[in-house]
Amino acid sequence: MGTDGSTKIRPHQSPIGAINLCSTREDANDMRSTVFEGGSMTRESLVNQHYGVAGLMAAIEGGLMSMGKSLDALTVDDLAPVDEFHSRGREATAELTSLAKINATDRVLDVGCGIGGTARYLAHQFGCSVTGIDLTDEFVAVGQRLTELVSLNDRVTLRQGSALALPFEANSFDYAWTEHAQMNIADKKQFYSEIARVLKPGGRLLFHDIFRGDGEEPIYPLPWAEDESISSLATKANARAAMEGAGLVIEQWVDKVGDTLAFMDQMAAQAAAGKAPPISIRLVMRDNGQEKLANYVRGLKEKRLTVALGMARKG
Ligand SMILES: C[S@@+](CC[C@H](N)C(=O)[O-])C[C@H]1O[C@@H](n2cnc3c(N)ncnc32)[C@H](O)[C@@H]1O
Repeated sequence: MGTDGSTKIRPHQSPIGAINLCSTREDANDMRSTVFEGGSMTRESLVNQHYGVAGLMAAIEGGLMSMGKSLDALTVDDLAPVDEFHSRGREATAELTSLAKINATDRVLDVGCGIGGTARYLAHQFGCSVTGIDLTDEFVAVGQRLTELVSLNDRVTLRQGSALALPFEANSFDYAWTEHAQMNIADKKQFYSEIARVLKPGGRLLFHDIFRGDGEEPIYPLPWAEDESISSLATKANARAAMEGAGLVIEQWVDKVGDTLAFMDQMAAQAAAGKAPPISIRLVMRDNGQEKLANYVRGLKEKRLTVALGMARKG
C-alpha cells in the first residue's frame, strides 16, 4: 500500500480483486488509486480506459455501410448485434423484459448502459423514457450519436457518470436495469444501495449478471477486464446478500449458464462458417476479443463463472 492510500502494482498484477459487501464508501476499492509506473489511476479511470475504444463510431458506421444500411434510415434492430454488450445480446434483454410489465409512462434507469442498446430497445418497444448512465466517455458519446440516428432522443438520455454516485433524486425511477456492469465494481453495497435509493417504493431492479462460480479462479482476459485489476466477481450468495442488504427483495433469480453456452456455440458456428455480422460486440473488445470470449465460455463450462438474470423489488 502506498503512503497516500494507493496500491502499488505492476501492470497486469491484481491489486483490487476483493469484494466489498459492508465497508464504508471511503474504504471502497473503486475509489482507491492504483499506481502504475508513471501514474496513478482509480478503478473508475481504469474501467474507462478498458472500454474506451477510440474510433468505435467509425467502425460501427463502416460495418453498417458494408451491410448496405443507410445511416439515414437506421433502425433499433439494425444496431442489435453491436449495441448489446452482454451474454446472449438482444435475446437476454427481451427475456428480462418478460419478467416485468414496463409501460409507456414508466421511467427506467439503465445503470452501466454501455452504448445504450438496451435503453433504445426499451424506449422503442414500450414507449417508456429511459435514462442510461455509464462511466466510459467513449461509450456515452457513441451511444448519444446512435440514439440520434434512430431518432429516439425524445425518450432516451445517455449521460456519463458513476453507478456509485447516481446523479438522480431518490424515489425517481419505476425500474432500474443493469446488465453486466457490476463485475467492474468492487463496492457492491454502494452499487445496490444507489439503485435502491433512486427506485420508487415498489419499483423493480431487473438484472442480468456474471458471478464467481464454485470452480477455480477465472482465467483472464475476459470481456470486462484484461486482468483482475478491474474485475470484482461476487459469488451468487454475496451478490444476493448485497442486494438484500440494500433493501431489495429478490423475486426471481434464473440461472442462465446453459442458454448462454448454447448461444455462444451458435455464435462460434456462425463465425466458423464465415457468416459473422460485420458489426458485433467484437468491435467493443479490442484485438483479443476472441480470447476473451473463449475464456468466458471456458469459465462457464468449468464453473469458474456463472451467469443469471432476475428481478428484485424495492421493499
Ligand atoms: C460489459 S459492458 C455492458 C454495457 C451494457 N450494460 C450492455 O449490456 O450493453 C459494462 C459497462 O459497465 C460500465 N461500468 C463499469 N463500472 C461502472 C461504474 N462504476 N459506473 C458506471 N458504469 C460502469 C462500463 O463503462 C461498461 O460500459
